[in-house]
Amino acid sequence: MSNVTLIVGLQWGDEGKGRVSHYVSNDALCIRSTGGNNAGHTVVANGKKFALHLLPSAIIKPNNVCIIAAGVVVDIKVLCEEINTLQKAGVKITPMNLILSPRAQIICPYHIEMDKLQEMRKGDKKVGTTLRGIGPCYAEKANRTNLRIGDLIYKSEYEIKAQLHLIWELNRKTYDFYSDSCFCTPANFIKENFEYLSTYGNALKAFIKDERSVILPALEDDNTNIVVEGAQAFYLDLEQGDYPYVTSSYPSSCGTLAGAGIGPKYVKNNYGVIKAYCSRVGEGPFNTELFDEVGNLIRELGHEYGTTTGRPRRCGWLDLVRLNTAIKINGITALCLNHLDTIGKVGLQVGYINVCIGYQKLPQGRSFVANQEITYVPVDADKYTPVYKTFQDGWDTTGCTSYDQLPANAKEFIEFIEEYTSTPIKFIGIGPDEKDTIIK
Ligand code: GDP
Ligand code: IMO
Ligand code: MG
Repeated sequence: MSNVTLIVGLQWGDEGKGRVSHYVSNDALCIRSTGGNNAGHTVVANGKKFALHLLPSAIIKPNNVCIIAAGVVVDIKVLCEEINTLQKAGVKITPMNLILSPRAQIICPYHIEMDKLQEMRKGDKKVGTTLRGIGPCYAEKANRTNLRIGDLIYKSEYEIKAQLHLIWELNRKTYDFYSDSCFCTPANFIKENFEYLSTYGNALKAFIKDERSVILPALEDDNTNIVVEGAQAFYLDLEQGDYPYVTSSYPSSCGTLAGAGIGPKYVKNNYGVIKAYCSRVGEGPFNTELFDEVGNLIRELGHEYGTTTGRPRRCGWLDLVRLNTAIKINGITALCLNHLDTIGKVGLQVGYINVCIGYQKLPQGRSFVANQEITYVPVDADKYTPVYKTFQDGWDTTGCTSYDQLPANAKEFIEFIEEYTSTPIKFIGIGPDEKDTIIK
């Protein structure tokens, strides 16, 4: 009775979780359980590209049943638009294959406004959020005042308006000094938000169903495959990531399971997704970041521009210190390695590929101190500089369809990661399309 495959990112997001989740989901129950539309998950299937923000990537295949679970913060307008866009592209989405948890939280336009105002006030201390209202919505959830999806069907108009009034009361002191803030007058705040909730709530009502009625029986049925698709990534985790440069949810394996409402005993595969290099959007430490031409080359060859915001992603070498730390804390059983093609091309162009295998402290930013090398990510990670192992040259993966066909240099790179992390690499991406996948 362990039929759950968990898919989480082990870097700073955009590792290719969506494509892995889509690939492994066939006749499955597929669950998105953390984050919101700060996520952008790309799936390329049969040459057609899809960008998903709230729906599980497996929705693209007609035989999967998908759930947006309790841990998600749902921008109801964005969800309506995403459903419409995919339907127009020929994807079947009906209440038969999409369930929206009544426990999921609602992002309202005022959360987005709060996100923007908070980032502005933080100035050079800003997090670099996606400005999608994620942090303010989770904060209000923690404050136990936020509206949930179920409120759209279980609460009366009077009750929703009373709750909006309470939210206005609790927030106005912080926000009403902005002349154009929506918190300026309670009447407008309540009217506008009630109309918004009614419009998009009505469009989504048919999808709302208690997810426990589907998930709990599926957990006891060995014939059902359950795939939980993580969002964001381990180093953006509010608890274990690079606080304060993190998101406001728990993208770790444990947090992802909690958001889905599934206990650890049901997990068969706990897959950690990584790229063969690192990228990061937003602020925060990034020990192996490259500020030179090599960084630019990775960005261009890997098309490292955000799916959600279009921002250029910061790029750098693969960091095995971070990877090892993440593997242990998440209890990862196997790795999925994407962009093997991209790093191979980088190697061919610049003549080498670096991989970080240790951190060394640089006191007062001047000289190295011997014996200060550590192999886990310390709380003051930004004060450490990477120690690299260098692989010569690169490789070309064009036309490879099996592990055996990969160039020797690529296999050496893969096997070094497996040995260093004591973790098998099961899934290898050599291009964005689902057909560009090698199972080892
Ligand atoms: P997610 O947020 O973890 O699902 O990842 P994103 O979709 O935001 O970012 C991954 C990007 O890399 C997307 O543009 C994918 O199409 C692309 N991608 C994923 N795997 C590979 C791969 O193995 N090779 C190449 N060249 N592109 C890939
Ligand atoms: P997927 O699922 C990459 C980053 C933001 C910012 C920080 C906080 O596509 O991998 P937030 O809007 O969540 O308050 O922003 O987290 N971030 C992501 N970076 N991929 C993501 O999702 C991200 N979701 C949030 O850039 O640094
Ligand atoms: Mg992404």
